[in-house]
Amino acid sequence: MEYGKGLMQVSASAPGKLVLFGDHAVVHGYPGIVTAVDRRYQVRAKHIDAAALQVRTSAGRLHEVPFAALDESQPPDIAYVVAAVKQLNARKPLKRGLQLVTGGPARSLGLGSSSAITVATLAVASRLHDVDLSPDELYSMARAAVLDVQGMGSGLDVAAAVYGGTCFLERAGEIPEALSVERLPLIIGYSGSKVGTVNLVKQVAGLRSRHPDLIEAILGAMGRISIRARSCLEEGRWRDLGALTDINQGLLEALGVGTGQLARLVYAARSARAWGAKLSGAGGGDCIFAWADDSVRADVVAGLEAVGGEVADIACNVPGVRVNDETWR
Ligand code: PMV
Repeated sequence: MEYGKGLMQVSASAPGKLVLFGDHAVVHGYPGIVTAVDRRYQVRAKHIDAAALQVRTSAGRLHEVPFAALDESQPPDIAYVVAAVKQLNARKPLKRGLQLVTGGPARSLGLGSSSAITVATLAVASRLHDVDLSPDELYSMARAAVLDVQGMGSGLDVAAAVYGGTCFLERAGEIPEALSVERLPLIIGYSGSKVGTVNLVKQVAGLRSRHPDLIEAILGAMGRISIRARSCLEEGRWRDLGALTDINQGLLEALGVGTGQLARLVYAARSARAWGAKLSGAGGGDCIFAWADDSVRADVVAGLEAVGGEVADIACNVPGVRVNDETWR
């Protein structure tokens, strides 16, 4: 821990995420797989002499929320931070004021995550307030905070932020399992646009209530893909994984969350002999990823760029939340 002017300061960082399999299906209780990506979000914290939470956001805005007003509705740029602090306050009432400074990459490329900020906030605030949380407790509290803000969510992105690596979530609400994955030969292509996850999740839920038999069958198939993909990932069976990835993409198209640009990126990657490609996350924009052997990597990158994709050189399967540069345990 750092000591400055008599005040203890704690800092934490948590990774963003790339959903590999089970996008949307996880929201409805089916399995999914996520990997942590090296676009990290930071939160620094110290005590202040006020019965309040002060938050300075990466955009430079300063907010002050008196502890008595924690339950009131909050501006969107601090909603996740406040929700995380509320979770801590419920566990052990806050006795001293808290100043938090948040930061992250200038552009999220759709890989960023409010969950990373939520997890990093809980990590620093619990350390400052002497609350010892196990990784599973941190996961459960961060997931509750995200649900508090969004009203929905599987917890897959929270899993990446807490545990890092590559995680398999059998069922929303359960504790995810760490997969033993050595490497992920994938290429990420950004479509150039971002849309809100919540609206797309609601759109799929609407489709499911209008056509329960059809949509449940699709979501169930996605869940089975996650189970098969898990062993392909652990055994490095990339060709089989590619085929499952392409099937998953077709099912996401059937849910109506694809776009023309995402499809162009997926087909460009496949034409350049990627093993398989699909959109990642809620759809409507954000990223695709393609599994590619080193021998075709340059061709896949060129193919994605030729159709307007932005190829991001981002490491996957990276460590989860770290406090003062130490892995959470
Ligand atoms: O759109 P993203 O990258 O935040 O991913 C959301 C993944 C969903 O399965 C659509 C939602 C969820 O909570 O798992």
